[in-house]
Amino acid sequence: MNTPLFKVFMPESVIPKLQETLFSGYIAEGEKVFELSKQMREFVGNENLVLMNSCTSALAIALRLSGTKHGSEVISTPLTCVAANQAISSLGANVVWADVEKETGMVDPSTLEDLITEKTTAIMILHKEGDPAKLDEILTIAHRHGIKMVEDAAHAIGAEYKGKKIGSYGDFACFSFQAIKHITTGDGGALACGDPEDAARARKMKWLGVDKEKTYAGSPWLEDIDDWGYKANMHDISATIGLEMMPHLQSIIDAHNRNGRLLDELLQGVSGINLVPRSEEHFSTYWAYCLLVEEREKLMKKLADHGFGSGQIHPRNDRYSLFAYANRELPGVDYFDPRELAIPCGWWMEKEDVGRLADVIKSGW
Ligand SMILES: Cc1ncc(COP(=O)(O)O)c(C=O)c1O
Repeated sequence: MNTPLFKVFMPESVIPKLQETLFSGYIAEGEKVFELSKQMREFVGNENLVLMNSCTSALAIALRLSGTKHGSEVISTPLTCVAANQAISSLGANVVWADVEKETGMVDPSTLEDLITEKTTAIMILHKEGDPAKLDEILTIAHRHGIKMVEDAAHAIGAEYKGKKIGSYGDFACFSFQAIKHITTGDGGALACGDPEDAARARKMKWLGVDKEKTYAGSPWLEDIDDWGYKANMHDISATIGLEMMPHLQSIIDAHNRNGRLLDELLQGVSGINLVPRSEEHFSTYWAYCLLVEEREKLMKKLADHGFGSGQIHPRNDRYSLFAYANRELPGVDYFDPRELAIPCGWWMEKEDVGRLADVIKSGW
């Protein structure tokens, strides 16, 4: 495949830095993680950001901070990575499926109110492929009912909603630095909290109840542990990789955005496909380029023949027997799921590659 759907960005400068960390005598959560936390807080514009070992851990911790426990209900979308919905399962809580908008594949705010019960603790939403979801509408509904909004921002580092960075407002936003995201730390994630008290609890929850960012006079294990936590911290090996990514982060995001917007332009009016509507008001990170197409497999084959990767990234999660208890009618999902196709638009593509990709699609399938 000449132009894959995803590609790992890895600067050469990682090698000497990793060598230094690996042989430094210390590889656990330490100075590298603290430095990356500082830089990531500045980038997102939120002091209350906590690095973790994955977005899945960040989502589970955000849900716990929302009061989710055994028997709670969390409203979520089936059109996401199963990791997000398993974060709900991991707490013994139940998923309640929200339907999605036929145009965007994202949670339809107008369907939410009817799903809220006295057991609901949170609404979990996805900024699909880095397109900001309808935050104001959803946050208003959540807060009207005294519940939290948890944003799955796995694809949305650097995305902006009405001029504000995702993660800089709202209750909780969870980022991923897993292998195929805009930047990677091997595996990794971050939880950005709206409330500093939540961030303080999250710092403890990610490391067995101990806040490693605090300085202790003696052993932290001699301090009281008042909350149970996970072994979900980031370590210095991952953070060393992350620190070498940071100088490139904005230009990677800008390249995705430039290519995505070019595809928006070039694919306008092509018969057989529908484009996802996007607003000038927001800044999308176009992690991949999502479109709706009839006879998806045929187009995938044609794209593969021309060296372009493509596919459906997250098949609907209500297909899994794990969630059989939550089955309900979801006309928006029924429409979106069989038509959804992701095509590449990442930093590894030049303007000419985007043009060739659009030409292949325009020539029919
Ligand atoms: C939408 C979405 N949510 C959550 C995750 C989980 O992220 P992580 O692998 O960092 O746990 C992913 C992908 O990995 C994802 O694509």
